[in-house]
Amino acid sequence: MLEVRGVGYSHDHGVVALRNANLAVKRGVRTALLGNNGAGKTTLFLHLLGILRPSCGEILLDGRPVEYGRKFVGKWRQRVGMLLQDPEDQLFSANVEQDVSFGPLAAGMDEQQARERVDQALEALGIEELRHRPVHLLSHGQKKRVALAGVLALSPELLILDEPTAGLDHPGQRQLLAALHELHCQGTGILFSTHDIHLARSWADEVAVMDQGTVICQGPVDKVLNDPLLMQLLGYDEF
Ligand SMILES: Nc1ncnc2c1ncn2[C@@H]1O[C@H](COP(=O)(O)OP(=O)(O)OP(=O)(O)O)[C@@H](O)[C@H]1O
Ligand SMILES: [Mg+2]
Repeated sequence: MLEVRGVGYSHDHGVVALRNANLAVKRGVRTALLGNNGAGKTTLFLHLLGILRPSCGEILLDGRPVEYGRKFVGKWRQRVGMLLQDPEDQLFSANVEQDVSFGPLAAGMDEQQARERVDQALEALGIEELRHRPVHLLSHGQKKRVALAGVLALSPELLILDEPTAGLDHPGQRQLLAALHELHCQGTGILFSTHDIHLARSWADEVAVMDQGTVICQGPVDKVLNDPLLMQLLGYDEF
């Protein structure tokens, strides 16, 4: 559905974050992206939503190169939803209900439809009681759940999550995984970055590994996670 082909990208100050990166995100598949701090995972994800534009190479949506005009990007972001690594970057409304309903309303739903989506998303993540709370007073983990509810409310075809379980307590992680399982059963593709190799092993269909701006492999979980050299690179050589 979404493909990164030979993408290079340098941040400000000339920091090279992506070098000839390749990744194929297949429809309905759960892909875990592993890689050490600074490997380029977040930078790659920001390309998958058109927030960053490659310096070279291309991004393909349904096999065709993406465009960066307002209209194309609007449709692209209705189909692909993303939970940013830091929920502070994602929440901007005064209270939880307004924030979660923003996406559905912006996508053209009426108040009733948007309210139903908000109800479902808050319930799925076990945060109904936060509905009327001011966003700036929430804890980090609560903000993360609210940001995720905002993405779930949009029912994207592909959901990209940048370290979704980081900072969540155990019940929060379970609710998140249950909500993602439900989406996956309905056919939603899920691409997530994580430092939790157990999560990748137990929950993904495919794993991709990044190192120094390049995706060094992508394949079935068993194959990738049983490769001793890759495990050593990720610091998991004791497994
Ligand atoms: N806004 C920025 N300006 C300059 N350099 C940046 C910026 N954001 C990231 N970088 C650099 O780009 C490289 C890739 O960073 P990125 O955030 O994509 O890594 P990551 O794999 O997501 O790491 P982490 O596991 O810590 O989240 C790093 O060298 C980082 O220092
Ligand atoms: Mg990151």
